Amino acid sequence: MNTPPTSRVVLRATGLHKRFGDHAVLTGTDLEVKHGEVIVILGSSGSGKTTLIRSLNFLEMPDSGHVEVCGISVECETSARGKLERCSRGQRRQMALIRRNTAMVFQSFNLFPHLTALENVMEGPLSVQRVARDEARRRALRLLDRVALGDRGDAYPRHLSGGQQQRVAIARSLAMEPKVVFFDEPTSALDPQMRDEVLQVMKELADAGMTMLVVTHEMRFARDMADRVLFMDSGRIIHDSPADQFFKDANNDLRTRRFLGKLAV
Ligand SMILES: Nc1ncnc2c1ncn2[C@@H]1O[C@H](COP(=O)(O)OP(=O)(O)O)[C@@H](O)[C@H]1O
Ligand SMILES: [Mg+2]
Repeated sequence: MNTPPTSRVVLRATGLHKRFGDHAVLTGTDLEVKHGEVIVILGSSGSGKTTLIRSLNFLEMPDSGHVEVCGISVECETSARGKLERCSRGQRRQMALIRRNTAMVFQSFNLFPHLTALENVMEGPLSVQRVARDEARRRALRLLDRVALGDRGDAYPRHLSGGQQQRVAIARSLAMEPKVVFFDEPTSALDPQMRDEVLQVMKELADAGMTMLVVTHEMRFARDMADRVLFMDSGRIIHDSPADQFFKDANNDLRTRRFLGKLAV
């Protein structure tokens, strides 16, 4: 079981709206995340899971709503119409600060192909945080060790398995010392054994008290590690409950039952 969360709220989203053309994806989403919480986000394809987590760190610009991470607050004005370039300089600065306090791990790893594993992990601290090269290197070596890749620092992504690449991507996200890490289906592109090695790293991270929002179809992870499960349907969070409660209630709710039935759990 992961470390119990504290009562301190690290992320709060209120009334998030996001549409793509005519398609309203998020329609007033609210969410509160406590320090050390592990939240698993479930829902069928197209239900808005990716849009939600991308909106929380402004990889996607919400049309309206409020996002606060570690006390850094951004009010998304409707006048910006979901476009970053229409936001004021002050708002963009706040968004950049929120990005620096969060990290994202993608389904497709997104490593720089021309950099070694070690250089991938060093890149953020060097170019964004302006950390000295020696310190960035020390930090990166420590993190590669932590994801059990201490001996593969010199390898280029194309010489690593998918599971190894994803573990490098996790090390890279941790190098920026984030307060919250978002995972978007981190194991969906992997075969079972590699999935387990990545899930193991994520479990260790949860055990160490990291605040995590995880979009995944890995029900074992949800059952074993989640403090809360959110279930999304058509852009709405229709369940937000402790994991054991979620799985108990699932039998009574048709949409959840259908979803879990498709995953055969
Ligand atoms: N950049 C985009 N442009 C247009 N439509 C998008 C874009 N991103 C997502 N969508 C649409 O928004 C809906 C929700 O997508 P997404 O958040 O990716 O769902 P999920 O991650 O749950 O599969 C889908 O209908 C998808 O087609
Ligand atoms: Mg998605």
